[in-house]
Amino acid sequence: MRVEDCRVITLDGPAGAGKSTAAREAARRLGLPFLDTGAIYRAITLVMLKENIPAEDSLRLRDALRGFSISFAGDRVFVGERDVTEEIRTLEIDAHVSSYAALPVVRSALLDIQRSQSVGGLVAEGRDMGTVVFPNAGLKIFLTASPESRARRRYDERVARGETADYDEILEAVNRRDRLDSERASAPLRQAQDAILLDTTDMTFDQVVERILEYAGRME
Ligand code: DC
Repeated sequence: MRVEDCRVITLDGPAGAGKSTAAREAARRLGLPFLDTGAIYRAITLVMLKENIPAEDSLRLRDALRGFSISFAGDRVFVGERDVTEEIRTLEIDAHVSSYAALPVVRSALLDIQRSQSVGGLVAEGRDMGTVVFPNAGLKIFLTASPESRARRRYDERVARGETADYDEILEAVNRRDRLDSERASAPLRQAQDAILLDTTDMTFDQVVERILEYAGRME
């Protein structure tokens, strides 16, 4: 294992398993940068929708990808100079992101962007971190939870933000996105062979973070 791989921790799993918040907190406590790769796919989706470029238009997609630049400042996400943090979390983006994320042209364009962030170590969260992007990571975790508890989390998040939310609709969207993300041909959502499975259905947020830190402590 290369030295830099020791400090790469990957967290993969389906939407709403609590990956993002737990990974962010674990990264903070480990003193490592955090990479939310879902935000990158969401930002690409936002750009394509704004430019009216459908997933089928590979020529224009390729062009737009060449000019795509994303950066992070703490919790904020920027495309070029524009802060898109809130815009990438809407239901519209939720509904379209899987179609763009399924495209090999999009996934390969993002490989370098993701890998270039790993110098010196990081905690990377997504769907294919342990299988494709960082196959030599020192610690791989596959975080999952029942679809019902994941839908409940998304529902609670939306209500907390003062938005209206329909639990059944969210559950249906969670199931649909799982299906699309797991069944796509290019880098589908799956547990890496050497990943530790962590089912968070009956765990609190603090317990999830503690468990990640415990695994990280055993890394060397
Ligand atoms: O984690 P999230 O809900 O923000 O991810 C948004 C979408 O991006 C999700 O439907 C799948 C896709 N995604 C992906 O294909 N690969 C990743 N590494 C991260 C996200």
